[in-house]
Amino acid sequence: MTYMQVNPAMVWLRASKFLLLALILIQLLATQLAAQRSKSPWQTLSGDAPLIIARGGFSGLLPDSSLDAYSFVSMTSVPDAVLWCDVQLTKDGVGICFPDVKMMNASNIQVAYPDRKNSYLLNGVPTQDWFTIDFTFKDLKTVFLMRGILSRSDAFDNNQYAISTVQNIATRLKPAGFWLNVQHDAFYAQHNLSMSSFLLTVSKTVFIDYLSSPEVNFFRNIGGRFGKNGPKFVFRFLEKDDIEVSTNQTYGSLIGNLTFIKTFASGVLVPKSYIWPLESKYLRPHTSFVQDAHKAGLEVYASGFANDFDLAYNYSFDPLAEYLSFMDNGDFSVDGVLSDFPLTASSAVDCFSHLGTNASTQVDFLVISKNGASGDYPGCTDLAYSKAIKDGADIIDCSLQMSSDGVPFCLSSIDLGESTNAFQSPFRNRSATVPELDTLSKLYSFSLAWSEIQTLTPAITNPYNKDYNLFRNPRERSSGKLVSLSDFLNLAKNSTSLAGVLISVENASYLREKQGLDVIKAVLDTLTESGYGNAKTTTTKKVMIQSTNSSVLVDFKKQSRYETVYKVEETIRDILDSAIEDIKKFADAVVIKKTSVFPTSESFTTGQTNLVARLQKVQLPVYVEVFRNEFVSQPWDFFSDATVEINSHVSGAGINGTITEFPLTAARYKRNRCLTRKDPPTYMIPVLPAGLLSIVSPTSLPPAEAPNPVITEADVTEPPLPPVTARSPTTSPGPLSTDEKSPNGQTRVALSLLLSAFATVLVSLLLL
Ligand SMILES: *[C@@H]1O[C@H](CO)[C@@H](O)[C@H](O)[C@H]1NC(C)=O
Ligand SMILES: *[C@@H]1O[C@H](CO)[C@@H](O)[C@H](O)[C@H]1NC(C)=O
Ligand SMILES: *[C@@H]1O[C@H](CO)[C@@H](O)[C@H](O)[C@H]1NC(C)=O
Ligand SMILES: *[C@@H]1O[C@H](CO)[C@@H](O)[C@H](O)[C@H]1NC(C)=O
Ligand SMILES: *[C@@H]1O[C@H](CO)[C@@H](O)[C@H](O)[C@H]1NC(C)=O
Ligand SMILES: *[C@@H]1O[C@H](CO)[C@@H](O)[C@H](O)[C@H]1NC(C)=O
Ligand SMILES: *[C@@H]1O[C@H](CO)[C@@H](O)[C@H](O)[C@H]1NC(C)=O
Ligand SMILES: *[C@@H]1O[C@H](CO)[C@@H](O)[C@H](O)[C@H]1NC(C)=O
Ligand SMILES: *[C@@H]1O[C@H](CO)[C@@H](O)[C@H](O)[C@H]1NC(C)=O
Ligand SMILES: *[C@@H]1O[C@H](CO)[C@@H](O)[C@H](O)[C@H]1NC(C)=O
Ligand SMILES: *[C@@H]1O[C@H](CO)[C@@H](O)[C@H](O)[C@H]1NC(C)=O
Repeated sequence: MTYMQVNPAMVWLRASKFLLLALILIQLLATQLAAQRSKSPWQTLSGDAPLIIARGGFSGLLPDSSLDAYSFVSMTSVPDAVLWCDVQLTKDGVGICFPDVKMMNASNIQVAYPDRKNSYLLNGVPTQDWFTIDFTFKDLKTVFLMRGILSRSDAFDNNQYAISTVQNIATRLKPAGFWLNVQHDAFYAQHNLSMSSFLLTVSKTVFIDYLSSPEVNFFRNIGGRFGKNGPKFVFRFLEKDDIEVSTNQTYGSLIGNLTFIKTFASGVLVPKSYIWPLESKYLRPHTSFVQDAHKAGLEVYASGFANDFDLAYNYSFDPLAEYLSFMDNGDFSVDGVLSDFPLTASSAVDCFSHLGTNASTQVDFLVISKNGASGDYPGCTDLAYSKAIKDGADIIDCSLQMSSDGVPFCLSSIDLGESTNAFQSPFRNRSATVPELDTLSKLYSFSLAWSEIQTLTPAITNPYNKDYNLFRNPRERSSGKLVSLSDFLNLAKNSTSLAGVLISVENASYLREKQGLDVIKAVLDTLTESGYGNAKTTTTKKVMIQSTNSSVLVDFKKQSRYETVYKVEETIRDILDSAIEDIKKFADAVVIKKTSVFPTSESFTTGQTNLVARLQKVQLPVYVEVFRNEFVSQPWDFFSDATVEINSHVSGAGINGTITEFPLTAARYKRNRCLTRKDPPTYMIPVLPAGLLSIVSPTSLPPAEAPNPVITEADVTEPPLPPVTARSPTTSPGPLSTDEKSPNGQTRVALSLLLSAFATVLVSLLLL
């Protein structure tokens, strides 16, 4: 058996690329101290922290089994993270790391060898694909690794990542631990290729720490042949109905025979569902599998962890929560996790496990809810607010609307149809077209009395159902009650943990002029009645009034001493000094979008603006919106991990608050112990803006986009609020007026729409 000699010049080229990667991707240049593992008692078999096993490297980001994916692990994970290689054999018996014996999925082999598709019996099933056994290692030189999971970025698919030998991965990367998985020993044997011989040979020069397989005979054959210092054997369980080929039993039945497994293995690797079974994607109580296996003296490794897989609803799209439920649940801990995102697993083990409920705050910023915990419950309901408080929000928010009878209440939109069942209600015939608000016919909050609105059923918001088929907590999709401003203020007042409330006031000018509704007076009166008066004699809760329209804030400033927050709705790249001076006159803080901090293109960050620093320089705290857990809401740079995104904004950009639909994630981040270290570990340091773009092959780079606009004084200044007109007696919207002057924002929005349309045209041209 021969291995390809590695060309030394290529090694240097690759090595320098790794070096560059190491320098640019991680902002912290100081050498990493070995992460100090938690001293808390782990309920693993050995009592050590769970092992982190990187499946095919950091395969959640870079193509599975590529050198870059493997080398990325040590840059982003605990120092003892183990590299997992799925070993396959080529026609000439070379052992390579590749995710499967079938090659179509994770490589460009279809393009490289269009007519070498073949058909074999794989575990008794006739299977058509490109098989590793049909190609010599030399043949595979022209084959490149690509993503196997389509929801991941394709930006690295043109990087021409070569297929590596097992030997090459081990000698080049010198992993802290090396785990070889042999999925198809019997198949190779049927084709006269011996996996055992390969492994015994390679083990003379490569240290194999773990060896796993789902086939009992593999272990029977290789058994004692490694000698004393051989690898740990781990029996891999497949799905419960799958048949184990050597015993002809289902894996489900083998669960009952752990003492048999123990005769040839020291551990087992099982799908997550063996431990936490699911029912309609909700978690059922955990099984006793881990405890049973521990009793039998077997270590338990769990597989199937990825930030971008379907997570049980109970985790609210937060992969960290999932790890913690396997590692830190009070009953047991798994001994290791097999993950495509070893960074998140590292952070779970080292920063977030065993925090307890009393862990103290390590970093100072405000966790501000967005319509309450609207990721878990219908927004602006009593349930969403209670959950936000329980989850550790500092500020809960009320997006203020007015009923036709002048009751201020909380709802995410002035359009009742957006977050209630209004269109299935008897009131649907009250919808109307109001050109000042929208070109389409809507059922507006000011068209219904509060008593009518209270009969509506709230609806959970699903921002990613259309494009990604992601639904939030379906069992609670219409739970909870809508609350009036006064209910909201009472709820907040009762909480001991809340620092304050934020009331967002929009469309004030229209409501005053066309509906005769004085929003500002309604807010001020309700605050006073609820004991949030200016006198500071009642509650000590902070009150923040937010608006995108300066005239509203100017009015509040005139009449009260509440904090005012100016919200900039569009993505911008800067604000002129003169405009900042202006903002300073009527606002105590500013809200900007995430993309105004880290602009993006094709879901990659392209840099960082200095807006945050510029606003803070004049003592304007900066709050940023909107943070969500769903991995599709984050640029790739944050590794599909909501905590990484928060950390990069808080520790990296230095923002003063996160506005979030999932307050738990931000509040938990605040208390993580890694923030206390002088040199935080790599998984708890901010990512470098535009860092990932630097490793995208030039052929896959997104087209340059026109820069985001700059805000000027003219954008900030608004005419004073119009007087409140006499109330119209009807509940239908006021007369349709056509000569409304277009608000300042509109031209800018139209311009940016135009620019993004232009970008789309560019993309399609490039694709031709
Ligand atoms: C490709 O591989 C991934 C895992 O590596 C798997 O989840 C996916 O189902 C595979 N796709 C196909 C089409 O086989
Ligand atoms: C494997 O080897 C045996 C004996 O050398 C031979 O009879 C058989 O045809 C070979 N099978 C394959 C699939 O090459
Ligand atoms: C495996 O078991 C099934 C029934 O459990 C039986 O029908 C089949 O013949 C067995 N196959 C082998 C190869 O023993
Ligand atoms: C466990 O499995 C072995 C091998 O298949 C079998 O011989 C033994 O009878 C099984 N024991 C039980 C309790 O099922
Ligand atoms: C998961 O959520 C469902 C629905 O809220 C609940 O019934 C179930 O008990 C939860 N599972 C666990 C393990 O907490
Ligand atoms: C948490 O703090 C409370 C009050 O400070 C104390 O009574 C409780 O024992 C603490 N719990 C833990 C687990 O430390
Ligand atoms: C809407 O329908 C109700 C009956 O469902 C009727 O009483 C009411 O007059 C209608 N309102 C309008 C504005 O058409
Ligand atoms: C606030 O607490 C008081 C006393 O505990 C209780 O009576 C009241 O119902 C609570 N109000 C709200 C809105 O939860
Ligand atoms: C009404 O408020 C929404 C934000 O809640 C905003 O998008 C819309 O432009 C506003 N319309 C007017 C006329 O102010
Ligand atoms: C806002 O954040 C900056 C940077 O972290 C800090 O210097 C400033 O004191 C903060 N402002 C407030 C009001 O917390
Ligand atoms: C802001 O309010 C003023 C009235 O004070 C109104 O004339 C203007 O159109 C509003 N601006 C926007 C962008 O809605």
